[in-house]
Amino acid sequence: MLKRKDLLGLYDCSAEEIDEILTEADAMYESLDKGGKCGNVLRGKTLITLFYENSTRTRTSFELAGKYLGAHEVNISSAASSVQKGETLIDTGMTLNALKCDFIAIRHPMAGAPKLLAEHVGASVINGGDGMNEHPTQALLDMLEMRRRFGKIKGLKVAILGDIKHSRVAKSNLFGLKKLGAEVWMYSPATLMPQGIDRLGAKIAKSREEAVEGADVVMGLRIQLERQTGGLFPSLSEYSKFYGVNDAVMKYAKPGAVIMHPGPVNRGVELTPALIDGKSSVIVDQVTCGLSVRMAVLKLLSRYREERL
Ligand code: CP
Repeated sequence: MLKRKDLLGLYDCSAEEIDEILTEADAMYESLDKGGKCGNVLRGKTLITLFYENSTRTRTSFELAGKYLGAHEVNISSAASSVQKGETLIDTGMTLNALKCDFIAIRHPMAGAPKLLAEHVGASVINGGDGMNEHPTQALLDMLEMRRRFGKIKGLKVAILGDIKHSRVAKSNLFGLKKLGAEVWMYSPATLMPQGIDRLGAKIAKSREEAVEGADVVMGLRIQLERQTGGLFPSLSEYSKFYGVNDAVMKYAKPGAVIMHPGPVNRGVELTPALIDGKSSVIVDQVTCGLSVRMAVLKLLSRYREERL
């Protein structure tokens, strides 16, 4: 059973904890499909979303997850908060804690910021993406999508292509997928491949075709121009030509393979528009899995808080 105050990353989650979250999230997905948007497991609880970086999917789905489960929900964007007056993360966190909130979902450009916050507040902290470190609920939603499509994670070949170096999504997926028994292949320009990722269990491909050969899942990752200092590849059009995923590359994948992307997509860069909108793409359904996962995480953390008090 999930016995933790916070969800900061998948590196330190066990396979059993991940499996429990996915099972709960699967039930949430089924309930949402039947119109179930008015639960009460978080009635009387407060969720604050504290985002220091832009977001559409993660922030909105945390907000809706809280609302659908009956919580009070407040959003704080750093651009409109006292962060702009120089307030520190810990002072902001202690202020929110004094307002008696139960959960803080945070996105921050610095790796480790959610952990620092969690050490200073009684509220449960959920990492919504910290720098180049982790994005655990994104990887959980990706795994939920795979589990729903294939009925299992164990034994799947997952090919991850794109800006792996700057990607918290790639790292959380690697940690989670390896724990559940999948094979994770990665491919990118050498300048976008973090050194030592093979020691964490990734298989590094020498070509797009090798990465995708026999894959059940082909995941494109966004080129994160905002985290790059420049000069890591010649141009977006050359990136697309030599490293992007297109129909010719997908011919190497297993029949029935699915295309995934965490979003937002740079159309025509990581994936061709035809693949993004094609019948193998599950990119839109990943968003519903994201809502389901965030509902499940809030419910399970809340249960632990109730039992601990
Ligand atoms: N995948 C993801 O984190 O998307 P957002 O930046 O829109 O939250």
